[in-house]
Amino acid sequence: MEPLALLSQSKVLVVTGKGGTGKTTVCGVIANLAAQCGLHVLVLQVGEGPSDGALARPSQLARLFGQEAAIGWEATALAWVPNGGRVEARLLQPDVALVEYLHLHGMRRLSRRLVSSGALDVVATAVPGMPDLLVLGKVKQVERAAAARRPGAPDLIVLDAPAAGHAVRFLQSPHGLLDAVAGGPVRSQAEEVVSMLSDPARCQVVMVTLPEETPVTETIETAYLIEDRVGAHLGPVIVNGRLPRLELAGSLTPEAVRAVADRSGVVLSGPQLADLCAAGRLRARRQEAQAEQVARLGQSLALPQLELPFCFNASLGPPELGTLTQSLAQGIAGLSLAAP
Ligand SMILES: Nc1ncnc2c1ncn2[C@@H]1O[C@H](COP(=O)(O)OP(=O)(O)OP(=O)(O)O)[C@@H](O)[C@H]1O
Ligand SMILES: [Mg+2]
Repeated sequence: MEPLALLSQSKVLVVTGKGGTGKTTVCGVIANLAAQCGLHVLVLQVGEGPSDGALARPSQLARLFGQEAAIGWEATALAWVPNGGRVEARLLQPDVALVEYLHLHGMRRLSRRLVSSGALDVVATAVPGMPDLLVLGKVKQVERAAAARRPGAPDLIVLDAPAAGHAVRFLQSPHGLLDAVAGGPVRSQAEEVVSMLSDPARCQVVMVTLPEETPVTETIETAYLIEDRVGAHLGPVIVNGRLPRLELAGSLTPEAVRAVADRSGVVLSGPQLADLCAAGRLRARRQEAQAEQVARLGQSLALPQLELPFCFNASLGPPELGTLTQSLAQGIAGLSLAAP
């Protein structure tokens, strides 16, 4: 399958997964690949809590693109590709989304009063589910602009969603508000968000996992919850951090390691030889454990898997972004073979 074909299936890709599995990194990688395909991509990051201080936070996403920019409500440009593709990012905060909503619906005076009285955050977060609806309402507004091809609207929206434990609650909030609110703007906003989330041509959920036991278990559970409770369509699962496969069988005895070292002109002391053998055995065990978890994921979830390699660097920047983007493109190209 061509990357562009996969990336054009839905206007919104909601990226979620257990905390720390690489959601933000994967958002950057998907956005980078889509930009290389000539798309204008907007990464929307869901902020936690009120907007105060958010602008001061260093951005992991920006660093991936070799930038130190802090990402705030207004779009920050992260990458341009000569073919016209580009990546932008915005941070979505419920309180700023509420102010914008009130402005757009003729309630400027009310929004000014909320800001000046300090009550803004209280109002934006007082009703359970309301912060999530404000954020998802903003995503839906950008998605509608994208679908209508309005000037400046992106071709693809990648949502860096909350971690899996919170993702179901986050995506389910509009359903909850539909049960609780009989009419008015909150209900119609919730209805519109629910219809976006449940339409595969508009939105897909991409789950990110590590090839390890706990993240895989959580991914399987969350995938079923997202399908059943949110009614959202699940795209491929991204298995992030897969160790590049080394053929180690038969090469982990002291004699075999010593022979390789001799051929390379490296002189090893006894302890060094023992440490190298132990490291090799650990790597072999980890490779095997990862393979078992990837197989378990495949047996439990009938979804295509795309693997991204583990990068052996302390922090990820443009070189790693390039490597991961290439892997994603190769993985998608391979999907045609496995496609039904
Ligand atoms: N393929 C990879 N190889 C090596 N390191 C990685 C890889 N993917 C992500 N990382 C590193 O793992 C850490 C977590 O990644 P990231 O911030 O993308 O995860 P996250 O799921 O968004 O985390 P959070 O739940 O805190 O938002 C980061 O330090 C990142 O640089
Ligand atoms: Mg993150």
